[in-house]
Amino acid sequence: MSGNEQSFIADAFASNWLSSTGPNIDAFESEVAQRLAENVSTLAVSSGTAAIHLVLRAIGVATGDRVAVSTLTFAGSVWPIMYLGAQPVFIDSEAGSGNMDPGLVEDYFRASERTRTLPKALIVVHLYGQHADVDSIASICAKYGVVLVEDAAESLGAKYRGRQTGTTADYSILSFNGNKIITTTGGGMVVSRDSKALVVMRKWANQSREPSLEYLHRELGYNYRMSNLLAGIGRGQLRVLDQRVDERQRVAKRYRDALETMGGVELQREAPWGMHSRWLSVVFLDPIEHRITPAELVQSLEAQNIEARPVWRPMHTQPIFAGSQIIGGAVAERLYRTGLCLPSSSSLTDADQDRTIDSVRNCLGAEARNPQRASL
Ligand SMILES: Cc1ncc(COP(=O)(O)O)c(C=O)c1O
Repeated sequence: MSGNEQSFIADAFASNWLSSTGPNIDAFESEVAQRLAENVSTLAVSSGTAAIHLVLRAIGVATGDRVAVSTLTFAGSVWPIMYLGAQPVFIDSEAGSGNMDPGLVEDYFRASERTRTLPKALIVVHLYGQHADVDSIASICAKYGVVLVEDAAESLGAKYRGRQTGTTADYSILSFNGNKIITTTGGGMVVSRDSKALVVMRKWANQSREPSLEYLHRELGYNYRMSNLLAGIGRGQLRVLDQRVDERQRVAKRYRDALETMGGVELQREAPWGMHSRWLSVVFLDPIEHRITPAELVQSLEAQNIEARPVWRPMHTQPIFAGSQIIGGAVAERLYRTGLCLPSSSSLTDADQDRTIDSVRNCLGAEARNPQRASL
């Protein structure tokens, strides 16, 4: 927390607007919209997952439909496809940014057009704060009539060709989960230029209550609204978003400076098309240079009370999605096998980061060198 949040929370308590309507919600929605772009509308909801669910339903995704989605992501990108009885089609990453590969999207759409199995929507994820090459993907979607959804849960604060993340698709979603760059403890947002669709989503998110005095419901509804109290936290957090991005970028730079000199260690590269928010600092170990696996390194750090995490396990390798269609897959699997997320908090002190760096260097330095390397 930044300290700014308290006054907005105090307002909520003083005015007794604590639940799913109130001035903080209205203000949070309009402040995020203002921050992102001139012509977008927003809907604050209870989570990023809920936001994707509302968007897919608004697009008309229903039982039997296909929805394409990045395979290298968190499961929250995919659950809403299942909630609607549709099938995910996973798309591999390109090696440079780790994000969805536009070339594979084109191949897949061309083939599925022939068999009349085009997906209804495509969800592109911006991995760990790094934007996907979304214009390339958008033009392929436009060519084949597939609606583009942007999962910007991890990328708030990042930019794509000068534009803010969350504004580069037909519909976008944000997450304010506790681990994100700014948080409402739990929450999410739908962002779109289609303000009429947002009116419909707002009703669904509010139990589908019709605007009448009695409790009248014509459609299926959800309890997906954000509370006025949590929106107050979001307002305080939004004021420090730029500062948070600066802090996270600084953390990433310190890792790069300290670890890349070792050889065989590389920080996730910044793609030429955008500004990486560095929500998380992700490093990749060259398996020829280093015999220790990222999983072993995570465990070793854990033993020293340092919390690192594996890279997302690709969705096409998850037991629950066994049998789902995958386009490619080898790149995401390699990124998963070779990558790990280092402690990246905005509040990470230099001393704590130095301890992490020393531990990583010790683990990598102390490992037996890979005999393959010696023979190269
Ligand atoms: C890429 C991605 N999509 C969706 C979500 C789901 O967001 P939430 O936790 O707010 O439901 C998350 C993470 O939380 C995420 O990292």
